[in-house]
Amino acid sequence: MMRSDPRALQLNEQGQLKHFLTLDGLSKDILTEILDRAESFLSMGEQSVKKVPLLRGKTVVNLFFENSTRTRTTFELAAKRLSADVINLNIATSATSKGESLLDTLQNLQAMQSDMFVVRHQDSGAPHFIAEHCTPNVAIINAGDGRHAHPTQAMLDMLTIRRHKGKFEGLKIAIVGDILHSRVARSELHAMKTLGVEEVRLVGPKTLVPEFFRDMGATICHDLKAGLDDVDVIVMLRLQKERMAGALLPSESEFYRLYGLTEESLAWAKPDAIVMHPGPINRGVEISSEVADGDQAVILDQVTNGIAIRMAVMSMAMSGQVQEQQAVGEEG
Ligand code: NCD
Repeated sequence: MMRSDPRALQLNEQGQLKHFLTLDGLSKDILTEILDRAESFLSMGEQSVKKVPLLRGKTVVNLFFENSTRTRTTFELAAKRLSADVINLNIATSATSKGESLLDTLQNLQAMQSDMFVVRHQDSGAPHFIAEHCTPNVAIINAGDGRHAHPTQAMLDMLTIRRHKGKFEGLKIAIVGDILHSRVARSELHAMKTLGVEEVRLVGPKTLVPEFFRDMGATICHDLKAGLDDVDVIVMLRLQKERMAGALLPSESEFYRLYGLTEESLAWAKPDAIVMHPGPINRGVEISSEVADGDQAVILDQVTNGIAIRMAVMSMAMSGQVQEQQAVGEEG
């Protein structure tokens, strides 16, 4: 069976988002619209009444085939702040582990008349598969699939960068650590390139930073000092040990010695560089406690910004679905 292009699948005929599967192929205008909309929701989070009715009467199902706390909770909060009804399904411990196929699970959930699925899956392409096989009018939001993409994480990182640095043009950014297994790094690279970041350096050992990333416009760097030199933003990544098949590393302590972010290595970046991490952080493996808790770290801002980004994306995709239904209705 021919699979449709996820880049086309996620837009309606008016060019608006109706699913959110990947940042690959999304225009600078759409990415900026997501950031601007999220910015308006951020101020809402500070008020005592935190709700808007944009998803009132809609049912959102959080469909997590892989465990997650932060991402699932912030998606749930985002849906609730948009006034949706939310159900959390931890499939990692339910139906598919009893042998049910993804399609069967999906058909059952559709029969419950949901309006949006937020999908996290260990296999690359699963949210795309669901978007292709779902009834029309149901929006699919990718909450991380395999090594492929984690578009809401990348956008919350872009919001964090814009709020701290004011712009993307002229910035030098280092993404450090396990790039090979990271869906965050892949989505960030798309976002940073589209938004006009001057240089994106991928930093880590040869076994974890493959050469093919050069084709996506990144600079590859196997030395931490050279990689951090003069950068404005540092994104540290966790070693994704659950995805490592063979021996890609000598040892964790060797990795920390060569690529760990400590007060000493942080000094190689610009003095006002910010330190980001998508979480969960491993203290003493990729980052020291002093840096993770230090003045330059913005790791908790990322979590707060994540709620606003998820509200923005969910409300945009729902409105893209509604517009499409209206267009089909007018034609019919
Ligand atoms: C990331 C993920 O799941 O890809 N975490 C997250 O979404 N907060 C990164 C990671 O697991 O290391």
